[in-house]
Amino acid sequence: MTDQPAVLFVCLGNICRSPLAEAAFRGAADRAGILATADSAGTAGWHQDRAPDPRAQAIARARGADISQLRARQVRSEDFRRFTHIVAMDHDNLSALRALRPDDARAALSLLLDHVPGRAGEAVADPYYGDDAGFAGTWADVSAGAEGLVRLLLARG
Ligand code: 4NP
Repeated sequence: MTDQPAVLFVCLGNICRSPLAEAAFRGAADRAGILATADSAGTAGWHQDRAPDPRAQAIARARGADISQLRARQVRSEDFRRFTHIVAMDHDNLSALRALRPDDARAALSLLLDHVPGRAGEAVADPYYGDDAGFAGTWADVSAGAEGLVRLLLARG
């Protein structure tokens, strides 16, 4: 029997993209009837213990997800043993994760959009310095990635 999936979504600050990815994945996994653990973290610790950016909370709320209770934290080495999949939002985060990866890691590393047909290798753009419209685009990207990840998990049983 394969392990129950445990997926960690990782961006830079853990206040914009990865909390949205976590919420989109929870919704997609629920709809598909998959039992999976989900969490998110940042490669930087600047926003430790902060709630998601208000713009991220607003787009999540508008799409039916409440992320107000999430709190930012930094990726730690234990995450590589605890999670089956660690999913980065962009190439910088993926490089940082590869550098942190301990020898006894079990987590498979990927970019979120690797799981979307035709978008492998693409990044989820950082919306932090942009406007509200950027966050709608972020939600669209993380939702597509979450649906693709759920299809992968369903296919692997
Ligand atoms: P995130 O966005 O990595 O999607 O959470 C950012 C959040 C904060 C900063 C940059 C990106 N910052 O520079 O503080």
